[in-house]
Amino acid sequence: MNILLVGSGGREHALAWKIAQSPRVEQLFIAPGNAGTALAGTNVALPATDFDRIKAFVLQNNIDMVVVGPEDPLVKGIYDYFRTDAQLASVPVIGPSQEGAQLEGSKDFAKAFMVRHHIPTARYKSITADNLEEGFAFLESLEAPYVLKADGLAAGKGVLILDTLEEAKKELSDMLGGMFGDASKTVVIEEFLDGIECSIFVLSDGEHYKVLPVAKDYKRIGEGNTGLNTGGMGAVSPVPFADEAFMAKVDERIIRPTIEGLKAENIDYKGFIFLGLISVKQEPMVIEYNCRMGDPETEVVMLRIKSDLVDLLEGVAQGNLDTKVLEIDPRAAVTVMLVSGGYPEAYEKDKVISGLDTISGKNIVFHAGTKEVNGEILTSGGRVLAISSYGKDKEEALAHSFAGANAIDFDKKYFRSDIGFDL
Ligand code: AMP
Ligand code: GLY
Repeated sequence: MNILLVGSGGREHALAWKIAQSPRVEQLFIAPGNAGTALAGTNVALPATDFDRIKAFVLQNNIDMVVVGPEDPLVKGIYDYFRTDAQLASVPVIGPSQEGAQLEGSKDFAKAFMVRHHIPTARYKSITADNLEEGFAFLESLEAPYVLKADGLAAGKGVLILDTLEEAKKELSDMLGGMFGDASKTVVIEEFLDGIECSIFVLSDGEHYKVLPVAKDYKRIGEGNTGLNTGGMGAVSPVPFADEAFMAKVDERIIRPTIEGLKAENIDYKGFIFLGLISVKQEPMVIEYNCRMGDPETEVVMLRIKSDLVDLLEGVAQGNLDTKVLEIDPRAAVTVMLVSGGYPEAYEKDKVISGLDTISGKNIVFHAGTKEVNGEILTSGGRVLAISSYGKDKEEALAHSFAGANAIDFDKKYFRSDIGFDL
């Protein structure tokens, strides 16, 4: 079969790497892809949200399945675009409907969904300019620190955690005043939860589901989880505290009610669900939903799936995921992200990357922000390369990834050398 994968980051390179291993695949295209995805398939210069051009490509190239990596096209309704187009109706899209994608696209929608289905999450209140006073009163009823979330997509920057009530009130007013544009016209105020986080990935055909390997990502730029939030600086799988007892609670209290809730509300959801969880004294609570895989978590999760991913995705498309087998590799997998100096603030691009040809067979290098120009690989983003490795345990895997991280170079390269330190 011919597959079109939409997206261009490290997540998409990892998906492309895994999809390309399937004997079922004849041709794999990635739109728009990066210098790494070009090693697993054919890049096509189509923006991920230009549905009309994607349609033309799908029809011209006999695409049998579209796999969507990032949230943007999903929140903008790529699934519905295909389902309501007579020429595209037979081409499955792996990813939720626009309504399902609201689990990520609107924090207010996600919180209300969790309340309706009794899914454990932090207490909250949604505030707009019209009920600002209620927002102040709710903040006064909470204890520090205070959590404010822009309702809409804000490129991963829409969550503020504030130490004092004064700051929280000021930021609430600023957010409602347009700090994140339309995304913060509604702000969710949440009770702060204290615990350790992990990322849970579920693949669902709308009726059945499979729980993929659990991962933990490292979001802060600095060692010891300090400094600014990034897209993610590294990831580890498995996660020791997400043991059998914990996962049984996650399944019973969170995953099953989520799948059943979507079904009960007639929300079409055939794709990946990413649960950002926090373990509060070994009790799982939902921090956020995402309607896609995580990045850089995908760069470890794909390593730990032994089964043919395309076979699983066909199960999603055909509604018989329950007949498919998900086999997990017992080894540990880790990834260490090489980023451009300055990231997540201003950074330079177009730095020549050297050493890619010297890395050992112990590393699987996924490109996040790269491009090829005249045979050279250049940096083209803040997150540049994800150096993934297997090991008998995370220490062994990390030793391989750090060796790879040191063997590759570009001007102002930076990476965190403490990934996995808290597990
Ligand atoms: P989100 O975009 O909702 O995942 O939030 C970004 C980060 O903020 C999360 O990964 C958490 O580290 C933190 N966070 C969000 N909500 C809460 C909360 N209610 N309590 C504590 N930390 C939170
Ligand atoms: N690694 C977190 C995310 O993909 O949102």
